[in-house]
Amino acid sequence: MSRPTLAVILAAGEGTRMKSSLPKVLHAIAGRSMLAHVLASVKQAGITDAAVVVGPGREDVAKVAQKELPGCAVFTQVERKGTGHAVLAAKEALADGKDIIVLYADTPLVRPQSIETLKAALADGASVAVLGFHAADPTGYGRLIVEGDALTAIVEEKDATPQQKAVGFCNGGLMALSGEHGLALLEAIGNANAKGEYYLTDAAEIAHRRGLRAVARPIAEEEVQGVNDRLQLAAAEAVMQSRLRAAAMRDGVTMTAPETVFLSHDTRIGNDVVIEPNCWFGPGVTIESGAVIHAFSHLEGAHVGSGASVGPFARLRPGADLAEEVKIGNFVEVKAASVERGAKISHLSYIGDARVGAEANIGAGTITCNYDGYLKHRTDIGAGVFVGSNSALVAPVTIGDNANIGAGSVITRDVPADALAVARGRQVGIDGWAKTYRAKKKAEKAAKTKG
Ligand code: UD1
Ligand code: MG
Repeated sequence: MSRPTLAVILAAGEGTRMKSSLPKVLHAIAGRSMLAHVLASVKQAGITDAAVVVGPGREDVAKVAQKELPGCAVFTQVERKGTGHAVLAAKEALADGKDIIVLYADTPLVRPQSIETLKAALADGASVAVLGFHAADPTGYGRLIVEGDALTAIVEEKDATPQQKAVGFCNGGLMALSGEHGLALLEAIGNANAKGEYYLTDAAEIAHRRGLRAVARPIAEEEVQGVNDRLQLAAAEAVMQSRLRAAAMRDGVTMTAPETVFLSHDTRIGNDVVIEPNCWFGPGVTIESGAVIHAFSHLEGAHVGSGASVGPFARLRPGADLAEEVKIGNFVEVKAASVERGAKISHLSYIGDARVGAEANIGAGTITCNYDGYLKHRTDIGAGVFVGSNSALVAPVTIGDNANIGAGSVITRDVPADALAVARGRQVGIDGWAKTYRAKKKAEKAAKTKG
């Protein structure tokens, strides 16, 4: 039986280096806020009980937290007096003796397994457990002072002696505290240090001095890299993207140039899907087995059925729902439309707020005129319909099954099944007209240049 655990997520940082009007922890990687990534890892580690500590007036952060982990408690740290102080802002939630795992909302790459490692350390008898990594550059990190198996102290950069600074084993930032001793350890933290802050990390030394066990477990540096500015945001994005691509490829997706494909945290791709270079996936995309996404396509909130072909240069916007074997060709935009089995929209079209029936063929340049400047309207295109090139379908309008629309038509009225609708000026033909015209114009020009 796993012990009851509370996750405390610190999200009260000001994030000044982001130079943003958006709170740092709400900046997104792979289509989801950093805070939501951390909460998702917490959830995946089997923890449902969480407290998020936010800065004053940060209802926006609280809202995201509650959406991602319904029922999580939100506490405000009124003054920023350090990480130890921030955890105690959630004191009410800590009071009932559950194990505590502290995470930072600006450290979004932590995997659920690492949270489980910390839980296991507590179950093993530790009162304090942290995750340590060998830093490429330890500057700025707390140094882990280890004697044998025991973590005797964590010394922050500003308080470290030259000898301690030489230690390369650094604190990843997460900390687990046992339910039995956690609150007492947190309350024993003082602020007699270089920054005058209450350091969460002091809990390790206090535990050690009290004869309790504190331990450090190893973690890869990549997982604990934090985000303080836009450069680090891009670095975290890169790590997340390579994880998502690797997971997709392991699941049987072919990517010719994976480094040019950008996925969302929730992109779902079936096996034997081929994704050509330079494709972008926003949140909410599902691709079924055997579909091909050709180069330079942009998808968001869309479903692509099995065996379908999309792009190159296609745009699927939210609500695009393509059934099996559908073909969406180059420079085609589809929004809030279901395209039924085997239908083809091969070139240069906009299909929005519509249904396209099975096996329909939508000619190049077809536009559903869905907006009258005030409201959106639907276009319903039946099965087997043939729409000639460069037609405008002015919604609301219904084209019955197997009807034919002449090229260049502007369709404003419903078309019955099996009918032909042509709505364009009738062609006029005058034999010899062009020859007469040329002769007349040449003569006019000659007369002018002489005079
Ligand atoms: C912290 C650790 C350090 C570790 C490093 C890993 C402490 C004292 N030090 O240092 O050992 O190596 O992380 O990245 O914990 N926060 C609040 N309220 C506060 C202060 C901080 O909510 O009053 C939040 C911040 O928004 C941030 C997190 O706590 O998300 C960590 O604070 P930060 O100031 O970044 O700590 P570091 O100096 O990086
Ligand atoms: Mg930091």
